[in-house]
Amino acid sequence: MASPRGPVREIDAALARLAAGEPVAFPTETVYGLGARLDSERGIARVYELKARPRSHPLIAHLGAARELADYTREAPPLAWLLAERYWPGPLTLILRRSARVPDSVTGGQDTVGVRVPAHPLALELIARAGVPLAAPSANRFQQLSPTRAEHVRAAFGDEVCVLDGGASSGGIESTILDLSGAAPRLLRPGLVTREELELVCGPLASADASAPRASGSHPLHYAPRARVELVDASAWRHALEASRERAAALVPHELAAEVPAALASSVTVLPADLAAAARALYAALHELDARGYARIFVVLPPERALGAAIADRLRRAAGRGDAV
Ligand code: TXA
Ligand code: MG
Repeated sequence: MASPRGPVREIDAALARLAAGEPVAFPTETVYGLGARLDSERGIARVYELKARPRSHPLIAHLGAARELADYTREAPPLAWLLAERYWPGPLTLILRRSARVPDSVTGGQDTVGVRVPAHPLALELIARAGVPLAAPSANRFQQLSPTRAEHVRAAFGDEVCVLDGGASSGGIESTILDLSGAAPRLLRPGLVTREELELVCGPLASADASAPRASGSHPLHYAPRARVELVDASAWRHALEASRERAAALVPHELAAEVPAALASSVTVLPADLAAAARALYAALHELDARGYARIFVVLPPERALGAAIADRLRRAAGRGDAV
């Protein structure tokens, strides 16, 4: 149907849903988000309900621009502004004290809020035209794999959720989470902005500890495919695959590419040598192995340097072995 401004665009339909208190899935450069208007209690409640996510697990507020830090946080230290300037729009979430404009429903009642400006033109247009930040977790059901394509969201939610299709996510794994609300900066979740990069700006970073605000990403069984994921040593994956009684696949880093015999090639996914490409391919590869119906996936972790640390973190969590990071 034509509106006075021409054909109804997907984004207009998405804005109408948001205004009616319905969540909308939208693309970001990391993974797809399931967003509600920050000022819509109904929309936020629906996000938790659709995901079957406990209300105590806070959502990230996706801002339209770095200057909105002044509206939605308080006492943001100069370091927050510096990092925002350097990395936004981009895959870095900052945990800061929240302003009164951020409702309890988004933060799980905590005095802090996670904020970032996503680097995807559709996300930025959606937020700008909504005129308010979007509170959004990743657009997957609780403890399932994050979606990096619109099809992944549709497979999880069917017709229940309107999906803005922005193509495959260019980053492929969730944002780095840096807590700036305490005495010293802490890395709560490794991601596309690496620890090494951040330490050049922030100095040595503490890691999450047991007293940290609860981050659902720190839950041991997070980001899991349906297949059982098992971590194996570089020397053991081949034997594990050949000896498995169940239908099994393997996911190995590029360093092992030369060790994959032709007979096993169809059930072995080798991650690309370039770590950014490996991160981009990671969830899509796990979604694909699930779609092919494997019961088990043997995984060899990549070396844990730079982006390799974030990739290893997600794989460890997929195996249910994620320690708090
Ligand atoms: O890349 C991303 O971060 C994606 C896209 C959609 O932006 N979002 C995402 O959201 O991964 P989610 O909800 O799946 O993970 C956000 C993490 C959760 O572990 C949550 O607990 C944590 O951020 N978080 C949010 N607010 C927090 C807070 N105030 N304190 C500590 N952790 C917080
Ligand atoms: Mg998530």
